[in-house]
Amino acid sequence: MLPIAEKDRRFWDKTAESYAESPIADEDTYQKKLELTRKYLTPESEVFEFGCGTGSTAILHAPHAKHILATDVSENMLKIARQRAEDADVKNITFKQAGIEDYDAGDREFDVVLGLNIIHLCKEPLAVMQKVNSLLKPGGYFIQSTACLSSSMPYIRPVLPLMRLFGKAPHVSMFSSKKLRGYLPGAGFSIAEDFVPGGRSAEFIVAKKVARISTGP
Ligand SMILES: C[S@@+](CC[C@H](N)C(=O)[O-])C[C@H]1O[C@@H](n2cnc3c(N)ncnc32)[C@H](O)[C@@H]1O
Repeated sequence: MLPIAEKDRRFWDKTAESYAESPIADEDTYQKKLELTRKYLTPESEVFEFGCGTGSTAILHAPHAKHILATDVSENMLKIARQRAEDADVKNITFKQAGIEDYDAGDREFDVVLGLNIIHLCKEPLAVMQKVNSLLKPGGYFIQSTACLSSSMPYIRPVLPLMRLFGKAPHVSMFSSKKLRGYLPGAGFSIAEDFVPGGRSAEFIVAKKVARISTGP
């Protein structure tokens, strides 16, 4: 799998400050997603998050898990995340710079992987989900919140290349709700919970690892 483009990494670094200041678009939906996620966390849970951004969600989940390894490709996002965790006196999160595409966990396996508002920003959504499979213990859960832009905002397709040309948007993968769910069996998952808030809100899926997918050569 190709690593994230340097141009995209820079986009996220530049965006970190404003991202940190932007309010949550729909607080009720956010709270419901937190609540659904917690059904899958226990005090023993080893959690991996990719694209953790400024760490806000990891910080809220940290008291419900044993440890969260929160990763992001942007060092500027992580700088804010580390400060936020320190301010909140949260000590069971480790922040690490990594793109999901080239992250190497060695033999480490997790109970839960969180990918929140990130799959649609990856060039190869299926390959990323297969990678997530390799990071999970058998029976572990992949919890994602993903914008299905072909369903919710199809009109942005022609605008995106221009925005990208002028550095105003990162890479975005356009796919429908149906296509997103269609990726899951090929990545070794079956859907355990499905929440579609409607409007422009990202769709929320809890998927259980039901098969081991080999991502090696
Ligand atoms: C839309 S933000 C979401 C942040 C956070 N998960 C949330 O829900 O608020 C996307 C984040 O993913 C990071 N990111 C983008 N592509 C990535 C990749 N390929 N691997 C790891 N992180 C990535 C960006 O730096 C950014 O912090």
